[in-house]
Amino acid sequence: MSTQRQAYRASILHSLADPAVVGQEDSYQYFEDGILVVENGHIVDIGEAEAVLARQKDNLEITAFQDKLITAGFIDTHIHYPQTGMIASYGEQLLDWLENYTFPEEERFKNPMYALKVARLFFDELARNGTTTALVFGTVHKSSVDVFFEEAEKRNLRMIAGKVLMDRNAPDYLTDTPESGYADSKALIDKWHKRSRLLYAVTPRFAPTSTDEQLAMVGKLLKEYPDVYLHTHLSENKKEIEWVLELFPERESYLDVYDHYGLLHERAVFAHGIHLSDCECQRLAETDSAIAFCPTSNLFLGSGLFNLPKMEAFKIKVGMGTDVGAGTSFSLLQTMSEAYKIMQLQQKKLHPFKSLYLATLGGAHALHLDDKIGNLEVGKEADFVVLDLHATQLMRFRMQQARTLEEKLFVLMSLGSDQAVHQTYIYGDLAYSANADQSRKIAS
Ligand code: GUN
Ligand code: ZN
Repeated sequence: MSTQRQAYRASILHSLADPAVVGQEDSYQYFEDGILVVENGHIVDIGEAEAVLARQKDNLEITAFQDKLITAGFIDTHIHYPQTGMIASYGEQLLDWLENYTFPEEERFKNPMYALKVARLFFDELARNGTTTALVFGTVHKSSVDVFFEEAEKRNLRMIAGKVLMDRNAPDYLTDTPESGYADSKALIDKWHKRSRLLYAVTPRFAPTSTDEQLAMVGKLLKEYPDVYLHTHLSENKKEIEWVLELFPERESYLDVYDHYGLLHERAVFAHGIHLSDCECQRLAETDSAIAFCPTSNLFLGSGLFNLPKMEAFKIKVGMGTDVGAGTSFSLLQTMSEAYKIMQLQQKKLHPFKSLYLATLGGAHALHLDDKIGNLEVGKEADFVVLDLHATQLMRFRMQQARTLEEKLFVLMSLGSDQAVHQTYIYGDLAYSANADQSRKIAS
């Protein structure tokens, strides 16, 4: 970590609050010619260049950018690192996709060397896409999470991850038991939770792959460690929901299965939540649980259209997830673009400031980390991205016609992907630069 005071000059935009709560205009802060000052991994100043230069009297070392926009690092609230190698697998919806593609690939993670290779590639992809924090599934293998955290720690990343718990309805080679799942999770929590910038999530895959005994063990773990996360899937696919109701006939709904075992709380994150009843929404809100909205995955697996306005009406915390490998991109910019289209299919609008919120501060809020990350306020951890508004010929041309900030932002979200990420900074240090990537490509 660089301990010296560093300054970055460009346009700066960051989210301050949920536009659904405070209105579009009060939801962000924008400095046309801004400076961000960083020291010891934290943000120490931000503002219009003139004002910051007047405040920071001693000589600032300034890196200046042309046609760039600095914003907070993106936050991916649901992703599977072991599915990096099977992204874009053809032709199936959720349950067959799991059986035909996902489980065989996840078996390969019994080999820690393979896990390490994928973890490295995964973190490289996150950085290339400007994602600085993610909530991540491992596999059933304890070592898959050790390898993941070791690599994340080397890169100084704020990551949340956990070992998958799965003791039924999966191939033998991928199942644990209530006891072994409990013991492995406990050992991982003791080793990794709150070490460096790392946090642990207890991770039952979804209700169909855990017995009542295992879900009870999950509830017990959460009681023993009240500040760890709960990360699972919920109400993604109609056949999945029917199956849950068959497997747990005594429960009122899919969510009620998790609720029964005490899994709903302020650090619980449920991926998808597409087909939720009003009662389920009510319960998510009451327990301060969060939903990860995963547009590219929902479209790719044909799962359905997420109802964001309903979540807003119930005041449920929502973050964005890529859900790679059911999701088809690591890019939160592309994910926002697909989210917009999902709203269009429901005759709803997704404003670019709301998208920015969901991909940054809203994600941080969903992860209960908005006091540390999610925007560029003084005191926050210095995870930020430098976006290139002219990344492609088409973007450069289109940007010339964009008159307002929101129009520029919308073009960036609609046309941008990894190419639009110029640099990514983790805890104040440069973690990715498109220029270096370009010269590596030319050299090889
Ligand atoms: N439900 C249970 N497991 C999975 C998974 O790996 N991906 C998705 N999208 N849904 C799931
Ligand atoms: Zn998932």
